[in-house]
Amino acid sequence: MTYQSAPFPMSRPRRLRQTDWMRRMVSETMINPDDFIYPMFICEGTKISDPIQSMPGVNRLSIDMAIEMANHAANVGIPAIALFPYTEKNLKNSECTEAFNPNNLVNRATKAIKAAVPDIGIMLDVALDPYNSDGHDGIVRNGEIINDETLLALEKQALVQAEAGANILGPSDMMDGRIGIIRQALENNDFQNITIMAYSAKFSSSFYGPFRDAVGASGALKGDKKTYQLDPANSNEAIRMIERDISEGADMVMVKPGIPYLDICQRICKDINVPCFAYQVSGEYAMIEAAAQNGWIDRNQVVAESLLAFKRAGCTGILTYYGIHMAEILDSPI
Ligand code: PBG
Repeated sequence: MTYQSAPFPMSRPRRLRQTDWMRRMVSETMINPDDFIYPMFICEGTKISDPIQSMPGVNRLSIDMAIEMANHAANVGIPAIALFPYTEKNLKNSECTEAFNPNNLVNRATKAIKAAVPDIGIMLDVALDPYNSDGHDGIVRNGEIINDETLLALEKQALVQAEAGANILGPSDMMDGRIGIIRQALENNDFQNITIMAYSAKFSSSFYGPFRDAVGASGALKGDKKTYQLDPANSNEAIRMIERDISEGADMVMVKPGIPYLDICQRICKDINVPCFAYQVSGEYAMIEAAAQNGWIDRNQVVAESLLAFKRAGCTGILTYYGIHMAEILDSPI
């Protein structure tokens, strides 16, 4: 049955928009700090906060500084952080061996943050790109990204990350079969409680540029990631990837990038019954910052509006570089 609203003037939709309290009372969605996963870039050293040029306001932090930031994130109510390492060039090779070094930077950071800030969740990317001299998420042989050999490396990487204390593993590599392999490896090694948030609908996007600068992967990358990341033209394929990853044991799924793929978010969130997150990626952040710094848009209003859009589309939460900033200001009217 469909409900017909009364004709004008009996129906005046503006009645429900006339005051702030009324608008708040009838609003359908809201954002709050629980919705945010805050990505952080980690570097070697102490007392380092190294600005990332293409992401103004975001810094690479040494582990001691990252602990402070994680503590702050917890204090403003953010449930989880995602750590990404800046890997020195001399540690990269074509076998990506640093990925499965139990004492690599991101694993040390995980242990240190877990010990200092036990109540915040830690998510780590399972993908080889920070460690690969070829810059790709998978192992490259004669210019080709080799799926099954990459799976063996991802399995080893996931296990050292689990050992380090990661709570959420985020396979972001887009190899076929990775969720099943990682889930089985976790089960076999007594890591039943580690959750997997699959980067399932990860598109081959030019919005990742600033991120690749941030982790030092831009220079290394030869070619593009089109043989494993999704074609931006495709929507049905994204649904297939989501279904596949859930069937292989993912607890949660993700759509990435965010705003340009809101249709995918909405389509997925309507149908699935596991939590679905969106990643508002580095290029989206950079665009908002660039315009805000020029005074062309109002930063806080635009950020809030962009994050609200994900909730309206049905997302459970958002990975966003604005997580801490938004959590700080959410209490005060913007
Ligand atoms: C690496 C990875 C990327 C991002 C998260 N994990 C980049 C890529 O796939 O090239 C992008 C995040 C961002 O742009 O903010 N597998």
